Amino acid sequence: MRKLTYFIACSIDGFIGDEAGDASYMYPFVDEEFFEFLRTEYPETMATHGRRALGIDDLPNRKFDTIIQGRASYDVALKEGVTSPYAHLREYVASRTLKESPDPHVEIVADDLVGRVRELKEEEGEFGIYLCGGSEVAGELVDEIDELVIKTYPVVQGSGMPMFGAAFAISEFELDEVRVFKNGVLVRTYSRKR
Ligand SMILES: NC(=O)c1ccc[n+]([C@@H]2O[C@H](COP(=O)([O-])OP(=O)(O)OC[C@H]3O[C@@H](n4cnc5c(N)ncnc54)[C@H](OP(=O)(O)O)[C@@H]3O)[C@@H](O)[C@H]2O)c1
Repeated sequence: MRKLTYFIACSIDGFIGDEAGDASYMYPFVDEEFFEFLRTEYPETMATHGRRALGIDDLPNRKFDTIIQGRASYDVALKEGVTSPYAHLREYVASRTLKESPDPHVEIVADDLVGRVRELKEEEGEFGIYLCGGSEVAGELVDEIDELVIKTYPVVQGSGMPMFGAAFAISEFELDEVRVFKNGVLVRTYSRKR
């Protein structure tokens, strides 16, 4: 059984971007120390074109070999002409409107997203599944999430796109680890309480 991990950047008050999901104000928090953490522990969570620009595109995956994104999140790269933003992972994009995949490496999941994720979780393998977001897809998959890795940046937004676009429901998680960075970034890892 493979784990589904929601690995996400957010503000102190739990928003993953502005109302439209734009999280670009968070980029400056990826300073030298925090970048080193990402590079050594989660290199596969960086987009392929970014890895290439940084000269780290040969780094092996550490935690994940598969990524799931909603179409709106995938659109961020697609608008820049990047059709396979995580070419070093198996890429799945949830969409009912994309009738054809823009890239042979990207599989579109149009029906039964939860069922497809359960099938992926049932596969054998040492690597897990990276749930990239955004909010809508995370909300639909909230009951399937086994692990949360929350990168919290030291800002309060007041409003914006929530971590989960879901109805009110309590899911309990246990805290496994907290990493603290000099610039005020926290990375908390939680496992679902079973
Ligand atoms: N802070 C961070 O770390 C972080 C990480 C990831 C994303 N984001 C931000 O999040 C924003 C996007 O989030 P979002 O909530 O608007 O959208 P999203 O979850 O990325 O994508 C929503 C889309 O996914 C498809 N979808 C949803 N449920 C589906 C289902 N059951 N079956 C098939 N397709 C389904 C639909 O696509 P169709 O309309 O094509 O049917 C829907 O419009 C972006 O701006 C991105 O920058 C931030």
